[in-house]
Amino acid sequence: MDIFEIDGPVHLSGAIDVTGSKNSTLPIMAAMLLAPGISVIPNAPDLADIRSLETLLESLGAKVHRNPDGLHINSTVIDNPVGAYEIVRKMRASICILGPLLARCGRVKVSMPGGCAIGDRPVDIHLRGVKALGAKIHLENGYIVAEAPAGGLAGTQIFLGGPFGSTVLGTDNVMMAAVTAKGTTIIESAACEPEVADLANCLNAMGAKISGIGSPRLVIEGVKELKPITYSVIGDRIEAGTFMVAAAITRSKLQINNCQLDHMLAVTDRFRQIGVAVETSNGGCEVAFDGPIRPADITTQPYPGFPTDLQAQFMALLSMAKGNSVVTEKIYPDRFMHVAELNRMAASLRKEGPNVIVAGVDKLVAAPVMASDLRASAALVLAGMAAEGTTVVQRVYHIDRGYHRIEERLNAVGAKIRRKSV
Ligand code: EPZ
Repeated sequence: MDIFEIDGPVHLSGAIDVTGSKNSTLPIMAAMLLAPGISVIPNAPDLADIRSLETLLESLGAKVHRNPDGLHINSTVIDNPVGAYEIVRKMRASICILGPLLARCGRVKVSMPGGCAIGDRPVDIHLRGVKALGAKIHLENGYIVAEAPAGGLAGTQIFLGGPFGSTVLGTDNVMMAAVTAKGTTIIESAACEPEVADLANCLNAMGAKISGIGSPRLVIEGVKELKPITYSVIGDRIEAGTFMVAAAITRSKLQINNCQLDHMLAVTDRFRQIGVAVETSNGGCEVAFDGPIRPADITTQPYPGFPTDLQAQFMALLSMAKGNSVVTEKIYPDRFMHVAELNRMAASLRKEGPNVIVAGVDKLVAAPVMASDLRASAALVLAGMAAEGTTVVQRVYHIDRGYHRIEERLNAVGAKIRRKSV
């Protein structure tokens, strides 16, 4: 098991490259099941979550390997449409094979994802969507079994809204099931995240006919077949936001390459409130900050609102603000595993239901802390770079799920992070 030893406080300088988006790559890998043949994602990030889905696709019959020119997925043969619990439980996004396998094979068995550190991961809206397309669904020993009618799936109008608004992977699943369904499908209350738009653009490049991309109303005209593709994904806006917080929390200036600021308007709005200047520069952005950190209230929302995946990182930053902030989590009300850990570092955070009252303190102090979900763990690394002393973060594998060699990239701009196996 790896740990990080992080010396602080540090100042950073230089440039960091953001990788291809994890949350675009995962559904796009699943979409390649729809088109028998070899598809390639040239900039698929090399992450534990991506490797988990590679393993799952191979268990379905696909051949997956990484070449210098990108991730190759050969989906010519798919002879075992079963998403096994052993893989799905490690990576809930595996549920995104449901739609494409239903469309391709007419029958799919995939494990219910089960809960995780950020809360329950229900898939009821995914099932509502594929049922509306004609699939018969039943549960069997913790597995979802979905079967398309003999004549195939049929387009219809589907409302995909839920108690927390839209669903990203639910929209992805229904879109992938609908692209070769008979007739037209209209998805109302579709997720508008850039990663959903990226998937839709990839599907259209494969021959699908999707309009309304980026809007809450997607119109999908069923086509007969899709073709394999070579498709590069968008930059990872959550990784970009994490590195922007790294610059702010260490009061540094950083160039962040390959980030699309037009995907991050809610994030730059909060940075402005905090007093952090973010400027477009050379196909990315430049963040320059020397404090003081102003307090700011944050409420997570579906896109274009503030992303839940940056909530923990901003809380680490606001924990040293000159004043109090309120952070409200409206997507995953339990997504506060980082609160107790930041308090161990002398932050002053108080949870009140879906809110955390952040009373700003002058400084954080190093401590041994425990990583939990992917983004909470990144927040602890950010806090460690600002805290006085050496912070030890345990269970670093959580971070490796979503950030490629984060310590090497941060050390290259001045961080002092040592990865150790214990
Ligand atoms: C995607 O998860 C992302 N993962 C998550 O990022 C992200 O936090 C989340 O969207 C919200 O933006 C990937 O894209 C691989 P949802 P997803 O369905 O699609 C509820 C990370 O750190 N819901 O949009 O699983 C659900 O419980 C990960 O990279 C239902 O109630 O999230 C949640 O409260 C973590 N029923 C809300 O909707 C359903 O059928 C939004 O979830 C589906 C979801």
